[in-house]
Amino acid sequence: MGRYADAFHRSIDDPETFWSEQAGLVDWFSQPERALDDSNPPLYRWFPGGTLNTCFNALDRHVVAGRGDQPALIYDSPVTGQQRSFTYAELLERVAAFAGALRQLGVAKGDRVLIYMPMIPEAVISMLACARLGAVHSVVFGGFAASELATRIDDALPDVLVAASCGIEPSRVVAYKPLLDKAISLASHRPRTCVVLQRPQGAAELDDEHDVDFEQAMRAGAADPAECVPVAATDPLYVLYTSGTTGKPKGIVRDNGGHAVALAWSMANVYDVHPGQVWWTASDVGWVVGHSYIVYAPLLVGATSVLYEGKPVGTPDAGAFWRVMAEHGVSGFFTAPTAIRAVKKEDPDGALRREHDLSALRTIFVAGERLDPDTYEWVTEQVGVPVVDHWWQTESGWPIVANLRGLEPMRLKPGSPSVPVPGWDVQVLDEHGQPASAGDEGAICVRLPLPPGALPTLWGDDDRYVASYLSAFDGYYLSGDSGYVDEDGYVYVMGRTDDVINVAGHRLSTGVIEGVLSQHPAVAECAVIGVADETKGQVPRGFVVLKTGAEIDEEALSAELVQAVRDEVGPVAVFRSVSVVPALPKTRSGKILRKSMREIAAGKDATVPSTIEDPGVLDTLRPLLRDP
Ligand code: COA
Ligand code: AMP
Repeated sequence: MGRYADAFHRSIDDPETFWSEQAGLVDWFSQPERALDDSNPPLYRWFPGGTLNTCFNALDRHVVAGRGDQPALIYDSPVTGQQRSFTYAELLERVAAFAGALRQLGVAKGDRVLIYMPMIPEAVISMLACARLGAVHSVVFGGFAASELATRIDDALPDVLVAASCGIEPSRVVAYKPLLDKAISLASHRPRTCVVLQRPQGAAELDDEHDVDFEQAMRAGAADPAECVPVAATDPLYVLYTSGTTGKPKGIVRDNGGHAVALAWSMANVYDVHPGQVWWTASDVGWVVGHSYIVYAPLLVGATSVLYEGKPVGTPDAGAFWRVMAEHGVSGFFTAPTAIRAVKKEDPDGALRREHDLSALRTIFVAGERLDPDTYEWVTEQVGVPVVDHWWQTESGWPIVANLRGLEPMRLKPGSPSVPVPGWDVQVLDEHGQPASAGDEGAICVRLPLPPGALPTLWGDDDRYVASYLSAFDGYYLSGDSGYVDEDGYVYVMGRTDDVINVAGHRLSTGVIEGVLSQHPAVAECAVIGVADETKGQVPRGFVVLKTGAEIDEEALSAELVQAVRDEVGPVAVFRSVSVVPALPKTRSGKILRKSMREIAAGKDATVPSTIEDPGVLDTLRPLLRDP
């Protein structure tokens, strides 16, 4: 049996022994009593009885082990022209000081801290400082608008917010403080304090009563730095909100013990990254990819993580990725296919690529959306190293299906992210919950228990966790993606089965956009679907039916709706197209047939349910759906 097959079977047949062995990858204050707590199915917990601190594992233990002078974080910011490297000792000092500052502001174990920051070292420092105190961070991506931020404030109930005064997009400086103030005014919950990092590109006006300057707080904290607070393995490390089918985002909970063990295991076995190596994930700390593979995983294994504040193109050009790789000696790189498509579009012949020496680069990993064969071939030709697709989600926290480059590299099949990762008993089920035959498409599920590192629940809502993920098929986690497994056991992911769309690698809910459209006084009803886009993978497209008697110019309405989505959801939704239609296709019970609309827009034969109210409505829409 190969190393992969052996590890995979052991992890599924005897998870207790497999994960007890992996528990040694992290340092514990007190060892767990056992690996798996299966006393309360379908809710499972990992490493009960164990206590640890994730920040200790990410920083202190490396300094103790003599890695203090090694770079932990390299900040490379073409948008500000800055570069800065932090050794493990320096990062530890900053984190302990900021943890001290948060403690002075009354933050204690279990308290929530909401972080709204761009890709700057202070974002990483704030996350680790929370981990050090046993406080629970919730990072919100900078591209979201104030009302999305307000929803998260009202769910996580943070005592303290940590923000930057601005983010820097290639086209503009995004002032964060007004967004934050608006979010606080929209939310029912009132955070006590807002710590604001003043950036020279756009300073914020601080209010003396509630706002605190980040650097001032840091100086106060440095006088009394915080030590690591031991937490239970099952205590939450963070809550990260992600889009679901409904307008209300889901607060994905990550615990401390399972997360640290799983991420450390994945670094060696999936990514083949080891202490001292330079690793770069070009994503954002506001997404799970950033949480896991910019911040926690590289630091947990004593690698060097590159933190890049820039874009694949336009900062200043499509050679930016190659420049960063060459300059910092990056050996492993992770991004989303959309970013590579953006580079390919601007530099199809790779002229900018040839200007840089990529001899340190060993592997490129991509995730977030399907890696289309054109992009795969182009980037493989450009770099001459394996380009590895892998599939996972905010919920999983780490790869579910991958080619395990550290454990046993396998043949890469374009179009497939390869095979189930040890710990993940991936099954494709048909609509009756029966395993589908090889090659047959069905719902991609994972047999319970999910491995360490996966979400144990949703923030404050076990019932919603069970209802959303565990009730479609008894004993299985429903991923929300459909796909199939081939004769060799390779998994193919075909796309979402729900109303979640993926715009430039960003996960969004069409329900949230519909919520905004339906608030317009002229709109009677609406539907939003994801349609294919050459660079961004998918973009949302809206269809609205006007209220009887509504008198509004269609172009003016469209502009108002586009602006409303930008204001309410955020620019990241890239909502630019809306059409006024006479009616929407529905079932007799009034359910809008979004799936049929999606299929027609994708050029497929639509599956039209027999319960359709009026097939003529769908026929009228057909030409519009096919030709935007
Ligand atoms: N803060 C504020 N605004 C943001 C933002 C942020 N952090 N991120 C994006 N936006 C804004 C952009 O400025 C843009 O605004 P505009 O409409 O005024 O131009 C809008 O949101 C859309 O942004 P984006 O989707 O990023 O489009 P783009 O054309 O600027 O860039 C890509 C396209 C492909 C280069 C970019 O989306 C990208 O790098 N994607 C990779 C995503 C990723 O890493 N995902 C994580 C999963 S691995
Ligand atoms: P997120 O939770 O934002 O990471 O988004 C997760 C979703 O992105 C998955 O459910 C998939 O729909 C999609 N996705 C992520 N990685 C891949 C991949 N490698 N191939 C296809 N789809 C992917």
